[in-house]
Amino acid sequence: MAEKENLEVSEAQIAVHWQEEAYYYPSPQFIAQANMTDPSIYDRFSLENFPNCYKEYADLLDWYEYWHTTLDTSDAPCFKWFVGGKINASYNCVDRHLAKNRNKTAIHFVPELENEKVEHITYQELWVRVNEMAALLQDFCGLKAGDRVTLHLPMTAELPITMLACARLGVIHSQVFGGFSGKAAADRIVDSKSHVLITIDAYYRGGHLIDHKEKADVSVAEAKKDGQVVDKVLVWQRYPGKYSSPTPMVDGRDYFVNDLLKKYYGVRIDPVKMPAEAPLFLMYTSGTTGKPKGCQHGTGGYLAYVAGTSKYVQDIHPEDVYWCLADIGWITGHSYIVYGPLAICASTVIYEGIPNYPDPGRPWRIAQDLGVNIFHTAPTAIRALRKIGPDEPKKYEYHFKHMTTVGEPIEPEVWKWYHEVVGKGEAIIVDTWWQTETGGFLCSTLPAIKPMKPGSAGPGMPGIHPIIFDEDGKELPAGCGKAGNICIQNPWPGMFQTIWGDRDRFVKQYFERYCKDPKSKDWRDWPYLTGDAAVQAPDGYYRILGRIDDVINVSGHRLGTKELESAALTVTEVAESAVVPVADDIKGKVPDLYVSLKPGYSPSKELEDKIAKALVTEIGPIAKPRKVWIVPDMPKTRSGKIMRRVLGAISNKKDVGDVTTLANPEIVTAIQGMMK
Ligand code: PRX
Repeated sequence: MAEKENLEVSEAQIAVHWQEEAYYYPSPQFIAQANMTDPSIYDRFSLENFPNCYKEYADLLDWYEYWHTTLDTSDAPCFKWFVGGKINASYNCVDRHLAKNRNKTAIHFVPELENEKVEHITYQELWVRVNEMAALLQDFCGLKAGDRVTLHLPMTAELPITMLACARLGVIHSQVFGGFSGKAAADRIVDSKSHVLITIDAYYRGGHLIDHKEKADVSVAEAKKDGQVVDKVLVWQRYPGKYSSPTPMVDGRDYFVNDLLKKYYGVRIDPVKMPAEAPLFLMYTSGTTGKPKGCQHGTGGYLAYVAGTSKYVQDIHPEDVYWCLADIGWITGHSYIVYGPLAICASTVIYEGIPNYPDPGRPWRIAQDLGVNIFHTAPTAIRALRKIGPDEPKKYEYHFKHMTTVGEPIEPEVWKWYHEVVGKGEAIIVDTWWQTETGGFLCSTLPAIKPMKPGSAGPGMPGIHPIIFDEDGKELPAGCGKAGNICIQNPWPGMFQTIWGDRDRFVKQYFERYCKDPKSKDWRDWPYLTGDAAVQAPDGYYRILGRIDDVINVSGHRLGTKELESAALTVTEVAESAVVPVADDIKGKVPDLYVSLKPGYSPSKELEDKIAKALVTEIGPIAKPRKVWIVPDMPKTRSGKIMRRVLGAISNKKDVGDVTTLANPEIVTAIQGMMK
C-alpha cells in the first residue's frame, strides 16, 4: 500500500484547498421566474422514492409508447431505464416544437469572423435540414438504426443538424472533438467500426481558416491500417457551394454534402421509433489506459435527464437565449448545447471560434447582440477572460440572469469576478460537477432553492445520492470535511450504459472497487466510482478536489496521462516517458512530459520539438506539453517503477519528500538542476 501511494500522483494531491466561503443568495427577481422553486423536489427524489421519481423527468418528453419499467437492474451494472418505452430523440428536439414554435430560433450560429452574418435557424428550418440530411444518410450511405457513424466536425450548425439526422434514424453518432488530430479520429473510427466519416472542409479559429479536410485523409489511412475501411467521407462546406480546403477530394470516396443534399430537397423521413434503451451516441473519453473509451449513452434515459436538468438547473424558458460556450465535441456540448436545450425548445447559441477573437470583448458583444441571458462556460475561459479583459463586460449592454461554470474546480477569486463583473452582480451561478460518463449534472445547486457558495459545486442533484469512501471502502461520515473518493450510490437515467464493446472494462473501472457483491442484481450494491476526490461540508455541499486517477484536466479538457505517454513513445529515440500535471493560472493544469532516451541518442532542442509534435499529431494541440524534459534517467523504485509523484513535485516546485528509498536518488537532484 505504501509503495502504491508513493507511485501515484493525483490532481487531488496537488489541488489547492481553499477556505469555505460565505453564501450568495439568488435575487427575488430570479426566484420569481424560476422553473423550480419547490424545495420538496429533494424529498420527491429521495432514495425512498427511487427510481420512480424519475418519471418526472421522463414526462418532459413525448413517447410513442410509454414505458412499463422505470429501472431494469437485471444486467447490473448495465442499467436500463424506461424499459418498454419507444421514443425518438430527433422528434423530441425538433418535430414536437413545430406546432407552437415553428418560427422560433432553435440555433443562432455565430461565425468567428465578425463581418459574417449570424445565422438564425428556426425550428421549422432545423426540421427541414435534419430531414434532408437523414434522407441522405439513409439513402446515399445506407445507414440504419444501430450503425455507427463518426463525425469530426467543428462548431458550426451542421454539427447538431448531423447529430439530429443520425438520431432520427437511430444511427449512433460518435462526434470527435474538431481539435483532435486525424489519428485520434482514426482510433475512434476503428473502435466504433464506422464506415462513414462526416467532416467539413474548413473552419475559423483565431482568425484563420483552418484546413480540416486534410485530417479526414489521415483518419481514413490510419483506420485502414487497423483494418477499418471508411468507404464514404461526407464533406460539409464552410461556405456552401464552395470548396475551402486545399486538400484534394478523393474520387469515389469523398462527397460534398451540399451537392448530395440537392437530391433530397423536400424529402421527409419519419423518425424511427427507438426502444428507450437504444444507444443514442458514443462519446470517447480518456481514462487510466492509453486507449480512449467510448461512453455509450442511451436514448430515453439520457434525453430525460438532460431535459430535466436543462429545465431546472439551467432554468431555460422558451423566451430565453441560452449560450453555452463549450464545444459540442465534448459531453457538455452534447448535453447542454444540443440535446437538453433543444428538447425543451430553447434558442441555443453556437459560436464557431475562440472567446477572445478578435478581442476579449467578443463574448460580451455576442451576448449583447443576441440578447443572451443564460451563459455557460468553464473556469479556464473565465480565468483567461479575466486576465486579458477584466473590464470588458462593463462596456456592453447585456444582462445575464443565470451563469454556469463546469469542468474544473473554480477558485473563489475567479468565481467572484465571474459573479460581480460578468454577471454584473445580478446573475446566479451554478457550479455543475459531472462527467462524460454521467450524461448530466451530478452536483449543483438548484438555483432558486439553494444558495451559492463560491468554490463548492453544491449538494447532489435531486435523485443523485453521493457518498464518500475512504481508501479502505469505509464510508466517511456525511459533512465531515475529510477528503475521499466520491461515488454515487444509485444509478440515474443520464448515466452511460457501458463502454462500447467492453463491458468488462466498464465494470472494472467504475464499479469493482466498491461493489459489495459482483453477482448482485440490486443497484444498492453497485456504487459508481467517479474517479474524483471530494470533501463534503456540514451543509451538505460538495467541493471537488480533482482526479484520483491518471487523468489530467487541461483547460477543462480531459486527457489521460497514459495516452500522452504512449504518444511520446511513438518517437524512435524515446525509451521511457512520464507525464505529470503542473498547476497553471489559466488552464488549471498543463502536462509536463519527462522522457529518457534509448542508448546512443542525445538530447537536443530539435528532439524536444519532435516529441512535442508527436503528441500533437497523435492527439491534437490540446495535448501539447508545457515542456519536454529529456532526462538522463527517470526516478525509479527499486522494482523499476517510475516515480511520477517525484516528477510531479519537481515540476510544481514542491518538496519531493523522502527519496532515499529510490533506486537512483541522485537523479532527483540532477533533474532539479536542469530546471534552474
Ligand atoms: O474531475 C472532474 C472535472 O472534470 C472531470 C470530468 O471531465 P469530462 O468527462 O471531460 O467532463 C467535463 C464536463 C462535464 C470530472 O471527473 N469536473 C467537471 N466539472 C467540475 C469538475 N471539477 C470540479 N468542479 C466542477 N464543476
